[in-house]
Amino acid sequence: MADLIATPPRIFIQTFGCQMNELDSGKMLRLLEGDGYAATDQADDADVILINTCSVREKPEQKVRSLLGRYKGLKEANPDLIIGVTGCYAQQAKGELLRRFPLVDLVMGPDAIPRLPALVMDIQHSRSRSLATEQLDRQDYPFVNDVVVAQGGSVTAFVNIQKGCDNLCSFCIVPFTRGREVSRSADDVLDEVRRLAERGVREVTLLGQNVNSYGLKKSDAPAFHDLVAAVAGVQGIARIRFTTSNPWDLDEGLIQLYRDQQKLASYFHLPVQAGADSMLLRMRRKHTRAEYLLLVERLRQARPDLALSTDIIVGFPGETEEEHEQTLSLLEAVRYDFIYSFKYSPRPDTQAVSKYEDDVPGAVKKRRLAEIQDMQRLVTDERLQSWVGRDVEVLIEGPSKRDPQWLSGRIGQNWMVSLPGAARLVGTLVDVRIDEAVSNSLSGHANHRDTVARAGGRLTVL
Ligand code: 5AD
Ligand code: SF4
Repeated sequence: MADLIATPPRIFIQTFGCQMNELDSGKMLRLLEGDGYAATDQADDADVILINTCSVREKPEQKVRSLLGRYKGLKEANPDLIIGVTGCYAQQAKGELLRRFPLVDLVMGPDAIPRLPALVMDIQHSRSRSLATEQLDRQDYPFVNDVVVAQGGSVTAFVNIQKGCDNLCSFCIVPFTRGREVSRSADDVLDEVRRLAERGVREVTLLGQNVNSYGLKKSDAPAFHDLVAAVAGVQGIARIRFTTSNPWDLDEGLIQLYRDQQKLASYFHLPVQAGADSMLLRMRRKHTRAEYLLLVERLRQARPDLALSTDIIVGFPGETEEEHEQTLSLLEAVRYDFIYSFKYSPRPDTQAVSKYEDDVPGAVKKRRLAEIQDMQRLVTDERLQSWVGRDVEVLIEGPSKRDPQWLSGRIGQNWMVSLPGAARLVGTLVDVRIDEAVSNSLSGHANHRDTVARAGGRLTVL
């Protein structure tokens, strides 16, 4: 009898890049699940393998090549296996990927995600290869509204509010891979947030490439801060985050929300990229160092316990030692909780590539990156240590990976906290005393007597 029950076809997705790509992978999975597929975390098991690529930095082609090398044997053993390359590098390389890699059946850009089930079915039936990289820039851009990506039991979820980017910073490939900016309708965003809240999600992260300009190009859309306020009004939502922001389009309304709206997490990722005005100009950023520092000051006035993080690029064309020093001094002035820092990498189609030579030698980029990271490490460690002994509110996300008797969650400022506690606390906000800061995370114990008691110096879960 058992062998009469057909096993569902399986899909394996490997994801690179940003949170938007993570969300896209979730959508692709859900869409194919709707067609009877089941997820697998083993490529060897899969009937469909998708590589969801990123092209924002360094050699995505090599990553694709090495993965495809691994999947070659699988395809030989199972000629029906469908291999797809999706995401930003697929959008960038288009048909070239089909030409270069005979193993690949599908090349699909982010805009074609809603069509994935049809594309896969078509490949199965016709055994032909498929290229789906047309970009849709229309205002009625089809956001995926009918699937909820968060899995049952998830406490946190990403929600897409915008696609694309109109900024054209000179180093950045995103406007070319993700197309022009389109805001998703507020009704659809709120509807998804409500559905997530009904499934137990307590924290949402609103995602877009440039969230502060949400709605600005759409006559019937609210401003970003109004959208955040509306999301805060959804019953069950305890915390709101968003990413990514730019220092321009960041208006007084959002700063005011940091003052008034406690559901807005005390965390802001505000990419600056460089500390010298001359660099910011070459990068086509629409802010100066002074304007940025003023914004930071206003944000901190509005929310004194705000944690800040940023993105830094070192070795952008023409970067002098003095300009590099200015980036270091900006880090010193702001004292970020955390930074992401990258060596400049020339990207096709961008202005920086057509206008400037990639003239900072590799060894200099490496040294500058190390200087920046070494300096930040000290500040980050200090910031982390400053939490020890303090009482914080942790949204419990699930059992800790290290020890099932422990829970893990985050504080508003985005640091992970682990603590001993019972599974029933998942999805709740727990008042926690921080005991220790360890390599980029915190540990502590719940202050409530009914969840944890101290017995002989050891923490015991009741
Ligand atoms: N080279 C290096 N870093 C880059 N980023 C974007 N484009 C490039 C590039 N060409 C970084 C920026 C951005 C982050 C997502 O990636 O810092 O904010
Ligand atoms: Fe995300 Fe940009 Fe990478 Fe695309 S290129 S996956 S938008 S980081």
